[in-house]
Amino acid sequence: MFARVYGCTIAGVEGKMVDVEVFLSSQLPSFDIVGLPDTAVKEARDRVRAALKNSSFRFPPQRVVVNLAPADVKKEGPQLDLALAMGILQADGKLAAPTAPWAFIGELALDGALRPVRGVLAMVLAARDAGYRNIMLPLANAEEASLVTGVHVVPATSLKEAVAVISGEQPPTAVPRRKRQQRKNEQKADFKNVKGQESAKRALEVAAAGGHNVLMIGPPGSGKTMLARCVPSILPPMTEEESLETTKIYSAAGLLVENSGLISERPFRSPHHSLTPAALCGGGRNPRPGEVSLAHNGALFLDELPEFRRETLEVLRQPLEEGFITVTRLQAAYTYPSRFMLLASMNPCPCGMLSDAEKECVCSAGQIYSYRRKISGPLLDRIDLFVEVTRLRYDEVAGTGQGEPSSAIAARVGKARSLQAARFAGHGIKCNAEMLPRHIQQFCKPDAAGRDLLRQAFSRLHLSARAYDRILKVARTIADLDGEEDIRTKHIAEAISYRQTEFF
Ligand SMILES: Nc1ncnc2c1ncn2[C@@H]1O[C@H](COP(=O)(O)OP(=O)(O)OP(=O)(O)O)[C@@H](O)[C@H]1O
Ligand SMILES: [Mg+2]
Ligand SMILES: [Zn+2]
Repeated sequence: MFARVYGCTIAGVEGKMVDVEVFLSSQLPSFDIVGLPDTAVKEARDRVRAALKNSSFRFPPQRVVVNLAPADVKKEGPQLDLALAMGILQADGKLAAPTAPWAFIGELALDGALRPVRGVLAMVLAARDAGYRNIMLPLANAEEASLVTGVHVVPATSLKEAVAVISGEQPPTAVPRRKRQQRKNEQKADFKNVKGQESAKRALEVAAAGGHNVLMIGPPGSGKTMLARCVPSILPPMTEEESLETTKIYSAAGLLVENSGLISERPFRSPHHSLTPAALCGGGRNPRPGEVSLAHNGALFLDELPEFRRETLEVLRQPLEEGFITVTRLQAAYTYPSRFMLLASMNPCPCGMLSDAEKECVCSAGQIYSYRRKISGPLLDRIDLFVEVTRLRYDEVAGTGQGEPSSAIAARVGKARSLQAARFAGHGIKCNAEMLPRHIQQFCKPDAAGRDLLRQAFSRLHLSARAYDRILKVARTIADLDGEEDIRTKHIAEAISYRQTEFF
């Protein structure tokens, strides 16, 4: 009275195979699951027992012990329900073991319906790579699973149907055809509609070209939010690999059900400033990725930066430095990828008018100090470009001409990115912003005049070593936009100008 079937679970954004071993013995009826946390065991037991009974199967009137292996893989969430039920039916002699190995994925409702789960893309990839060619999963997840090639996906809507298909009593339903991506034609905000603000646009072009972090500072209504929303229109297209990475994260977050195509546009996340540290970094019971991971391979826009809670902003340190985030819970640690370009905006002071040429600021020095202090030094240290955005002059507001379209800017950004891709091939990084000290040494060698300029700036602007490196990285990007191999004085000068803010 023993059966072994295979299920999948998800750790972080990676799928893991789980062996489900079921033992029946003629002792007093009981049902134990070894290898799950207590609360998860209780819930899984209740669902599997009810689903079996309500699908007119019996729950074996014996001692049922299920062992989930390997022991060191943390198994949470309901995605093992279907495998548990299949294993029990096989051990109870109600279902013959299928000839080929199957992987079973899905949550059971009490009435026996098969419910969709999060992380199907990663789990199906893991199953395929472990050699499982046949995968049964909930119908609502089938489109997502069909993104994976080289596997035979069989959808089901209930435990009853799953059993009928496995035992050959019923032909499997076909996987629904994937809907065409609708996101493609979504209208993006275009820089051509932004009047004036030439220096801010230039800074955002540099940022997009090198993947740099930007902070925009300016009075209310100067167009900071508008400018940030135009950034997606100039980001380079995602590579296939990036697209798969980002899609896996959305799958793990349960955000793919509506639109199950591969995500092909770089994400742009703009969470409200009231969000909690957990919502930003991810985690929770049945851990899921947070905003920093949903922005992976794209941009994270924090509008009105000082309004965010300080402990929320602290969460950004690890992802900004390392490109991933570690979330710990119940003795387990998950890592989620989280490499994004940070876009942030703020007013120069609480009333917003400090930097304005005409209106008077009404804030006290103390108010201004505590407003700025909300943004910690370590966060500021990770900003590559500071951009002052000023209110438009009358002639700029009244002007009717259109600015340069985003498509033209995107073309320059694309060229600069190709240079970076060629430069960093084999180095494990993709763009200038990701350069480590050894890359900076190798690829950012300014000319003699440029070095002089840097020396002066270092003492005049009281730069930290980190800020110094950031100037070199930004200068590298500016040279790339010029199509030049060498970093010239003018590239250094422009890079320094992005640190010459009087606000910090
Ligand atoms: N450069 C500009 N070109 C065209 N319209 C602009 C420009 N700047 C601002 N506007 C208009 O003003 C509105 C307000 O701009 P926006 O919300 O981007 O300002 P903001 O700097 O984010 O202000 P706040 O600090 O209050 O958030 C925009 O929706 C847009 O209609
Ligand atoms: Mg705004
Ligand atoms: Zn003020």
